[in-house]
Amino acid sequence: MAGKGIFISFEGSEGCGKSTQILRLAQRMHALGREVVQLREPGGTRIGETIRHLLKHDEQAGAMTPEAELLLFAASRAQLVREVIRPALERGAIVLCDRFLDSTTVYQGVARRLEADQVAAINRFAVEGTLPDLTLLLDLDAAKGRRRAAARSREKDRMEQEGAEFYEAVREGYLMLAAAHPERIAIIDASGNIETVEAQIAAALKLRLEERTDGLF
Ligand code: TMP
Repeated sequence: MAGKGIFISFEGSEGCGKSTQILRLAQRMHALGREVVQLREPGGTRIGETIRHLLKHDEQAGAMTPEAELLLFAASRAQLVREVIRPALERGAIVLCDRFLDSTTVYQGVARRLEADQVAAINRFAVEGTLPDLTLLLDLDAAKGRRRAAARSREKDRMEQEGAEFYEAVREGYLMLAAAHPERIAIIDASGNIETVEAQIAAALKLRLEERTDGLF
């Protein structure tokens, strides 16, 4: 935990509904008069958005090695932590981040099969102690998530072109990570409609953060 603010990250595979839920929570917190800083990874800074483009859409991105991919995600995060997240937490803001270091642990470590200890060391170096107070894992059957994501009209980016096996590994990786860090990661069943998922998120926030936030949630 850093500063006076509250840092909440959202994790989950493609099509789990993170963006919708982040937007709703941000609106709710904003209406209560709190400063809300809404971020996404990779991205959220000028440098990070350039890295995001490279990772997802660059013409040459098909040639990217898993090692380079890992370091680019970490570089974007290192910038975001120092340029945006820490100052926001110091001001007392609520920081809502669409993905954070757990994405690297799962996508690069588990699904891409890079060495877990090395991925953990790079993650530690990038965030240097700045960890979410709470991580909401929106858990969804991998095939269902793929169908939801495919229904979006835009073209698939480089990561979304991975096959079913990759996304099965992502889901399993997230569940294993949540089991290893129950004090930080709350599992939300993302298979229901928007309101049902929102209600579960509200309940998790109340349960996990009420003491620290004076009844805000
Ligand atoms: P998104 O903004 O649509 O979630 O796209 C980000 C993509 O990048 C998504 O496929 C997950 C992937 N990703 C990683 O593989 N590792 C990471 O550390 C992060 C933040 C994202």
